[in-house]
Amino acid sequence: MEHIKSALKKAGVLDETNAPAAPVSNAEIKPPIKKVEIAAKSSDLEVPELRKIEIDPKHLERRRIVSKSMDDPNYIAFNLLRTRIRQAMSDNNWKSLAITSPTPGCGKTMVTLNLAFSLSRNPGLRTVVVDLDLRRPSVAPTLNIEPDRSIAQFLLGKAEAKDCFVQVDPNLVLGLNSGHTPASSELLQAPKMLELFEFIETTLSPEIILFDLPPMRSSDDALGFLPRIDTSLLVVASGTSTTAEVDECELHISELDKLLGIVLNKCEDTQSEDYYY
Ligand SMILES: Nc1ncnc2c1ncn2[C@@H]1O[C@H](COP(=O)(O)OP(=O)(O)OP(=O)(O)O)[C@@H](O)[C@H]1O
Ligand SMILES: [Mg+2]
Repeated sequence: MEHIKSALKKAGVLDETNAPAAPVSNAEIKPPIKKVEIAAKSSDLEVPELRKIEIDPKHLERRRIVSKSMDDPNYIAFNLLRTRIRQAMSDNNWKSLAITSPTPGCGKTMVTLNLAFSLSRNPGLRTVVVDLDLRRPSVAPTLNIEPDRSIAQFLLGKAEAKDCFVQVDPNLVLGLNSGHTPASSELLQAPKMLELFEFIETTLSPEIILFDLPPMRSSDDALGFLPRIDTSLLVVASGTSTTAEVDECELHISELDKLLGIVLNKCEDTQSEDYYY
C-alpha cells in the first residue's frame, strides 16, 4: 500500500496534506508491472448475429479516445498500459479486468475505451467491454451509439444477450447500457449475471473482458461485483481524488485481493513531448 501512495505522491496526485494536485491531461499506471509482450491468438471476433457499427475516429478523438486512430501521441500511454496489463494477466491466467474509481468523472470510461481499442489492435486479441454502470452508463453516450437493448434489460429478463452487444472493430465488441436502473447492486449480483458471463464466454470467446464499473464511493455496486472478476484498476484523477479516497478504495479492493494497479489520470504533463515516445 505504501509503495502506491509514494508513487502517487511522486507523480503529484497526492500531497502530504491530502489536498488534490493540479489538473492535467494524460494517463499512466502506477505501480509498475513487469513489461513483456505476449503472443495473441490468430482469429478475430466473428459473431455474425451482432450489430456492426462503424465509429467516426474524429468523434472518438473529441471524446479523448485516441487509441483507435493513433493520431494523438497520447495513445502511447495506453499502449504501455495495455502491455503491462497483458503481462500481469497472462502471468496469473486472468481474463477479466474491472475499471473503477473513487468518485464519478475520474476517467474510467475514457481509460476503458482507450485500453480496449489499444488491446484490440493486436491481431487476434479478442476484446469485450461491458458497461456495468447501470445507474449512469457512459460507454454508449461516449461513443454516440444508441443501443438496441441494454445489459440492464438483459439482467431484468427483458432482452436477449446478443441484442445488448455491438461490434465496433474486428476484435472489439461492446456490451451497452442506457437509462438509469434502480436496484443495480442487486442486479449485478443476481443469477442472471452468470448467464451474461456464459454468453460472453461461449459466444464471444474473448481473450480479455473489461468491465466499466460505477465509482466505488457512490454505491456498493462495484464492491459487490469485484469478487466476480479476476482483477481491477483503480482510476484516480489528479485535482479531484484525495489521499483519503484513494486509501479507502485501495483498502477495500486489496482486501478482496483484486487490485492490479492504480491509473493516474489527468496528471500534468511536466515532461517534454518526446517523453511518450
Ligand atoms: N486525461 C484527461 N484529460 C482531460 N479530460 C479528461 C481526461 N480523462 C477524462 N477526461 C474527461 O473527463 C470527463 C469524465 O471522463 P469519463 O467519462 O471517462 O469519467 P468516468 O469516470 O467514466 O465518469 P462517470 O463516473 O460519470 O462514469 C469526460 O468529459 C472526459 O472526456
Ligand atoms: Mg463512465
